[in-house]
Amino acid sequence: MNIKLIRKKAGEVAADVVVVAVREGHELTGAVARFPQMLRAAVTARARRVNFKGKVASTLSVQSDGCDFVLVGVGDGAAGENWRRAASAARAAAAASHATTLVFALDNAEHPAEVLGAVIEGLLLAGYSFDKYRTRKDDNYRGPATLTLSAPSLKDDLRNRRCVERAEVVCQSVALARDLVNEMSTFKTPSHLVSVARGLARRGRVRCEVWQGERLKREKMNGIVAVSAGSKNPGALIKMVYKPRRRARSRIAIVGKGITFDSGGLSLKPAKSMETMKMDMSGAAMVLALMKALPLLEPSVEVHGFIAAAENMPGQGAQKPGDVIRYRNGVTAEVLNTDAEGRLVLADALCLAAELEPDCIIDAATLTGACLVALGPRVAGILGNDQELIETLIACGTEAGEPLWQLPLVEDYMEDIRSSVADIKNVGSGYAGTISAALFLRSFVGKVRWAHLDIAGPAFTERPLPYTPKGGTGFAIRTLLAYLDSIG
Ligand code: BES
Ligand code: MN
Ligand code: ZN
Repeated sequence: MNIKLIRKKAGEVAADVVVVAVREGHELTGAVARFPQMLRAAVTARARRVNFKGKVASTLSVQSDGCDFVLVGVGDGAAGENWRRAASAARAAAAASHATTLVFALDNAEHPAEVLGAVIEGLLLAGYSFDKYRTRKDDNYRGPATLTLSAPSLKDDLRNRRCVERAEVVCQSVALARDLVNEMSTFKTPSHLVSVARGLARRGRVRCEVWQGERLKREKMNGIVAVSAGSKNPGALIKMVYKPRRRARSRIAIVGKGITFDSGGLSLKPAKSMETMKMDMSGAAMVLALMKALPLLEPSVEVHGFIAAAENMPGQGAQKPGDVIRYRNGVTAEVLNTDAEGRLVLADALCLAAELEPDCIIDAATLTGACLVALGPRVAGILGNDQELIETLIACGTEAGEPLWQLPLVEDYMEDIRSSVADIKNVGSGYAGTISAALFLRSFVGKVRWAHLDIAGPAFTERPLPYTPKGGTGFAIRTLLAYLDSIG
C-alpha cells in the first residue's frame, strides 16, 4: 500500500472511497465543510435521520458521482484504539466497493503522530486474511493500492513519516504471528518454528541458536524433552538475539510458549477442547514477530528471545502422570497432569533467561483455561514479581488496545503446588489455576524482575473483532513493541 500524507480538508481530495472522521457529539458542519453543496445537504440530512452521532467505528455512507463518502465515528478521538477501530471500519467500507484509492480524512483538530500510526495499524490489521488453504477465493479484493491521509494541518514531515513506517513494520510482524498461529499443526512442527527463526536470523542484526535432540538432554532442557517424548516431532529450544547498532540501554529476555499442538498428552483433552489447540504456540509466534520487527525499528535494547517448542502428544514413550522432571536449575517437578505442559517447557526457557541476568524477563503463554474463565477472551492476565514492570506493561497494553489485568501471586497458594515426592507439582487443587501456573513458573526466574502474560484468551478469536478476523490475533506483540520502544 502506497501511503501519502497531505494537508487538505475532507472533500478536497478525490478517491474511490473518501472516509471522513467525525468526533462524537460534534456538529457535522466542520467535517463536511468542503463537500459540494448537494452532497453536504444529503449527508447532513441522512445523519440526522439515522441519528449518526460519531460513536467509535459507526459509519454512514452516501454515494455521489461514482464515489463513496463515508463518515466514520472516532468517539472522543483521544485514544489510539478509537482510531484503530474507526480505520478498521474504513477498511470495510473500502472493501465493500473494492476501492483502489482510499482517502482517510482526519478531523480538523491537531493530530499527534501516534494517531497516524493508529489509523495505519487499524487499516492494515483489518486487511489481514489467511487464505493459504482456500481454493475458491470468494473475495479477491486485496485492499486499496493508495491510501491518502489528509488533514488541514497534517505535515509530511520526518516524525509523521516515521510513525507511518513504524506502523507498517508492526503490522507485517503481527501478520507473521497470525499466519503461524493459523497454520495447521501438522505443518508447523517445532522444526518448522526453527526454520522460521533461522530465516529471520538471515537478515542481519538477529542471531539464532537452536538446541535439538541430544543437545537438549545435555543442556538439561528436561521439560521440553519430557513433553516431546510422546510425539514423533522432536522438540526444540530456540534462542534468538537482537543487538542494536548503538550501545544497548538494557537487556531484556522474552520467552514464548511454543506448543505446536496440545492434545493434552496422556491426560488427553476432550475433542472439542482440541479444536483450537494449534494456537498453543502463540507465545512463540510473538517472539518470532518481535525478532522480525526489531531490526527494522532499531530500539537501543538488547533483546534475547527464547522459544520452548514441543508437540504435546500421547504417543509411545509419552511422559506419564507421576513422572518427575529435574530442571537445569536443580528444581524438581512432579507431573500429575500432562495437559499442564506449558509450564513444563517454559521452565526450561526461563532457567536459561534467568542465567543471562537480564534487566527483566517477560514471558507470554497460552497457559491456562482458567485465565479464559476469569478474564474472558479479550483480556490477558498479567502476574509477576515486580510491580513497576507490571504497571508499565499494563500501560503499554492500554496504548496498544491490548488489555492486561493483573492477578495476584498469592504466596499462600504455594501450598497448592507443593509435591509429596518432588519440590513442586504441575497442577494445583483446581482453584486459581492461573495463579498456581504462574507460581510454578516463578520457581525458575531466580531473582530477575519478571512478568508473565497469560494470553490463553486473547491469542485466538472465534469471532471477528475490530481489525482482527477469526483466528490468531497476534496479541501482545504491539504491547511489547511499545514497551521496548519506551525503554530503548
Ligand atoms: N494450552 C492449554 C491452555 C488453554 C486452554 C489455552 C484453552 C487456550 C484455551 C494448557 O496447556 C492447558 O491445557 N492447561 C490446562 C491446565 C490444567 C490441566 C491444570 C487447563 O487450563 O485446563
Ligand atoms: Mn495443555
Ligand atoms: Zn497448552
